[in-house]
Amino acid sequence: MIKKLLLTVFAALMFASCSKGEDKILVVYYSQSNTTKTLAEEIQKQLGCDIAAIECLQPYEGDFGQVIQRWQKEQQEGRTPELKPLSKKVKDYDVIFLGYPIWGGTYAIPVASLLRDTDFGGKRLVPFCTFGSGGLNTSVADLQKNAQNAQILEGYGVRQARIAKAPQEVEQFLIKLGFKKGTVEQLPDFSAQAEVTDAEKDIFQQACSSYQMPLGTPSTVGSRQIKGGTEYLFTVEGMGGQKSQIYVIAKDGETPEFTQVVR
Ligand SMILES: Cc1cc2nc3c(=O)[nH]c(=O)nc-3n(C[C@H](O)[C@H](O)[C@H](O)COP(=O)(O)O)c2cc1C
Repeated sequence: MIKKLLLTVFAALMFASCSKGEDKILVVYYSQSNTTKTLAEEIQKQLGCDIAAIECLQPYEGDFGQVIQRWQKEQQEGRTPELKPLSKKVKDYDVIFLGYPIWGGTYAIPVASLLRDTDFGGKRLVPFCTFGSGGLNTSVADLQKNAQNAQILEGYGVRQARIAKAPQEVEQFLIKLGFKKGTVEQLPDFSAQAEVTDAEKDIFQQACSSYQMPLGTPSTVGSRQIKGGTEYLFTVEGMGGQKSQIYVIAKDGETPEFTQVVR
């Protein structure tokens, strides 16, 4: 009798969780100085899902220089940091939003430890990151190489300096990927790349000159209209002839800002 009752309750629970037809979503993130934590919590809030922080047994502490020093030493020794167990089990979820700061152009090294320790087989993985200048594309490419059993979806990245703009951008991102209801701003294509005018050079300067490192000199640019302003896609030549693409948005009445560097 009790067995029958338990089976009925179990069946009802199974039906309740499956019948919603919704994915079970978990936000997993690493954050050394809390910027990615802010972004992770925003995504969690908008999705109303579970969240778990990736924590190192021995946390990376100190300023940029100290973190770099420890990380370089570990790299030379071929080590990645040991992690505390996650507070949630990845296997219990369908979709994992995986967040990290960009370190050296890719995901911060504790994420490498997570990929080493965790089976993401059959999961849909949505990367998100924060960075000083860029690294979304390169980190996603590395995830595709190193989490081959997972299906890697489109990612979202935001500069640390623009973290206050994240809530609106996250909403658009989640709607675009189908995780939230609503309408996405439909954007036209960028115009073809053409030589940069003096006015465009000035916009580039305003957007990029306050960044701590020189971002290079723009050679060509394309643009498109966005809500309340214009978005530019500059092709830039850096020191040593290295080419990059830099996205800049110039909203009416606001100082232009770059949103990411794609290297
Ligand atoms: C060790 C280290 C390496 C970094 N490397 C890069 C980089 O290659 N490119 C970049 O744009 N930002 C880089 N950054 C900046 C961080 O990605 C950025 O500050 C991020 O928002 C920090 O996130 P957190 O507060 O969640 O730790 C680096 C920061 C650290 C500490």
